[in-house]
Amino acid sequence: MKCYDYIYIWVLFFLLKSVACFNLDPNDKDSVYDGIDTVTKGMLNYYQPSSHDFTAYWWMTGSCLNGMLNTYSGTKNKTHMGLVVDSLLANKGENDDFAPDNEKFNLGNDDQGIWGLTGMSAAEINIQDNQSDVSWAAIAQAVTNEMSARWDNSSCNGGIRWQIYSFNQGYSYKNTISNGALFQLASRLARYTRNDTYAELARKVWDWSVSVNFVDADSYAVYDGSKTETNCSSVTNEQWSYTTGVYLAGTAFLYNYTNGTSEWKGHMDGLLNRTLNHYFNEDKIIYEPTCETSNTCNYDQTGFKGMLARYLSYTMQLAPYTAETIMPYLHASAKAAALACSGGYDGVTCGNRWTWNNGTWDKNYGLGEQLSALEVIQSVLTPQYSPLLSLDTGARSKSDPSAGQITQVSYSVPAATKSDKGWAGFLTALFSFLFLLFSLWLFF
Ligand SMILES: *[C@@H]1O[C@H](CO)[C@@H](O)[C@H](O)[C@H]1NC(C)=O
Ligand SMILES: *[C@@H]1O[C@H](CO)[C@@H](O)[C@H](O)[C@H]1NC(C)=O
Ligand SMILES: *[C@@H]1O[C@H](CO)[C@@H](O)[C@H](O)[C@H]1NC(C)=O
Ligand SMILES: *[C@@H]1O[C@H](CO)[C@@H](O)[C@H](O)[C@H]1NC(C)=O
Ligand SMILES: *[C@@H]1O[C@H](CO)[C@@H](O)[C@H](O)[C@H]1NC(C)=O
Ligand SMILES: *[C@@H]1O[C@H](CO)[C@@H](O)[C@H](O)[C@H]1NC(C)=O
Ligand SMILES: *[C@@H]1O[C@H](CO)[C@@H](O)[C@H](O)[C@H]1NC(C)=O
Ligand SMILES: *[C@@H]1O[C@H](CO)[C@@H](O)[C@H](O)[C@H]1NC(C)=O
Ligand SMILES: *[C@@H]1O[C@H](CO)[C@@H](O)[C@H](O)[C@H]1NC(C)=O
Repeated sequence: MKCYDYIYIWVLFFLLKSVACFNLDPNDKDSVYDGIDTVTKGMLNYYQPSSHDFTAYWWMTGSCLNGMLNTYSGTKNKTHMGLVVDSLLANKGENDDFAPDNEKFNLGNDDQGIWGLTGMSAAEINIQDNQSDVSWAAIAQAVTNEMSARWDNSSCNGGIRWQIYSFNQGYSYKNTISNGALFQLASRLARYTRNDTYAELARKVWDWSVSVNFVDADSYAVYDGSKTETNCSSVTNEQWSYTTGVYLAGTAFLYNYTNGTSEWKGHMDGLLNRTLNHYFNEDKIIYEPTCETSNTCNYDQTGFKGMLARYLSYTMQLAPYTAETIMPYLHASAKAAALACSGGYDGVTCGNRWTWNNGTWDKNYGLGEQLSALEVIQSVLTPQYSPLLSLDTGARSKSDPSAGQITQVSYSVPAATKSDKGWAGFLTALFSFLFLLFSLWLFF
């Protein structure tokens, strides 16, 4: 094959030359399956079997596992499901709440929330539940109970903070993704359990998000958050694709749970319109406006648009009438992603900007790039995804509404001592160093 000649040259002379040899036809299943295999292989380069996680910030392991659950949902290919289940169980933590002790110093509400959503996915598509152990649904319920117990009226008239612990930078920030993750968790649990208490929680989070203008109820723009010192009177202008997406999917679950009420339909339609207008370019290719135009996306931000694609898939499943509108955007984006996955030593490493130079590799690479490509490419298979089950339609993962309520106590830790802070700083420095080493190793 022609492209391998180029790779050979690349390896010999260390030429940073991109080789386009990965075309994707979204209408051809085999082509999509091949594309999924290719980008998954790249993603798994970052997986460490010994520690059961990806070399990246911890929340990204949770997000990647969600991507792989969707792969199974779309292809029914079980090849990597052992890895997924092992990793979920290894990371569920001592209290079955996706807050393991070894992440304690770094754990934010958004991190735990993203993992909780992955637990919901495992429950909704009946992933092998180890019955002698805790159920996926119960883990997601524990996450939801713990997060909602952190509801904080001391500023902004409510909402949850970004960070859980006061010694972490970001404790004095209320961020939209944490609240949006809680909103989606509650919406999904409402539909999964048919317990209206979760729908009430979802409404509380939604109403609050609108009241502080994190979600603008007119334009449906979704902003990043606000500092607590301003009492949320000054909301940042930054907007991210996954934040819009996390609310969009939440409204889709509520729309479906309420059998299509006009209220949630209205919010869903508004968020969808905003999504397609703001996070896709004129060629219908998905992008992250806040950092891609300046090519300054950091290691987390490259994975956001893949999460948006994931949330668009749920929207199409739960509100089937939206599929006709959404699908052309995903087809165009999947093609562009494949063209941009043409770099690195293997010739199929994914870049970040797919709108760039007709989708050639932009020399960016990383776990987020692989995850985004995976989610966008497989989203074209949404019509054949496994149905999102609830307990009354065959889901087997058992509900435990009281999960997490006992362990909550352990979260009200006293203010950090100096040594805690030092330790957290040390871990961050160590992590950054290891990450740098790993990046270098991967590239050379
Ligand atoms: C399942 O996935 C594996 C690994 O990605 C791949 O090698 C295999 O061909 C796939 N099987 C089918 C039936 O698509
Ligand atoms: C199920 O959980 C039990 C107890 O935690 C463990 O010993 C066993 O290995 C698990 N089985 C699988 C298939 O993960
Ligand atoms: C927070 O405020 C809301 C309304 O402003 C109220 O309903 C709720 O009970 C308060 N929660 C706590 C824990 O004080
Ligand atoms: C914060 O804003 C709420 C309304 O959103 C108001 O009720 C409250 O008094 C404000 N608190 C402070 C300290 O400004
Ligand atoms: C939705 O419809 C189902 C079946 O028709 C019914 O059992 C359920 O109560 C309805 N749910 C709501 C929230 O109206
Ligand atoms: C979608 O949003 C645009 C502005 O971004 C607006 O002009 C248009 O009316 C909206 N369409 C619908 C159907 O809401
Ligand atoms: C809810 O979702 C199911 C698929 O999970 C779909 O068949 C049904 O039409 C949806 N309900 C509404 C009101 O769109
Ligand atoms: C972009 O790439 C596609 C696929 O390689 C090709 O068919 C098309 O002609 C290219 N367009 C431009 C403007 O280069
Ligand atoms: C519904 O959920 C709430 C909150 O978790 C719980 O207290 C209640 O027992 C649940 N009800 C049922 C019938 O499971």
